[in-house]
Amino acid sequence: MPTLIVTTRDGQERAVNGTAGLSVMEVIRDNGFDELLALCGGCCSCATCHVHVDPDFAAKLSPMSEDENDLLDSSSDRNETSRLGCQIEFTEALDGLRVTIAAED
Ligand code: FES
Repeated sequence: MPTLIVTTRDGQERAVNGTAGLSVMEVIRDNGFDELLALCGGCCSCATCHVHVDPDFAAKLSPMSEDENDLLDSSSDRNETSRLGCQIEFTEALDGLRVTIAAED
């Protein structure tokens, strides 16, 4: 099982195991991080699963869709490391991925 390292808004870091094939959002949510609201359930329509991703992994991530890009534009905390957690498939290749939960909008 690949490991995901999650940093919460207050700077707490925790490594969790995630099932490959789930989304990064699902792995975070299933491990009890309640500050990642994921209100739309992964339909790419809410942006409450916004995370900042370690740039070292950028090349291994699935590319950003136009819809994801547009939604991220609605976030004041957007930067070049921003992704929607529900749009990243968590795979073995992403073992050790670090994500930080973005500020609430
Ligand atoms: S969970 Fe709503 S956009 Fe990701």
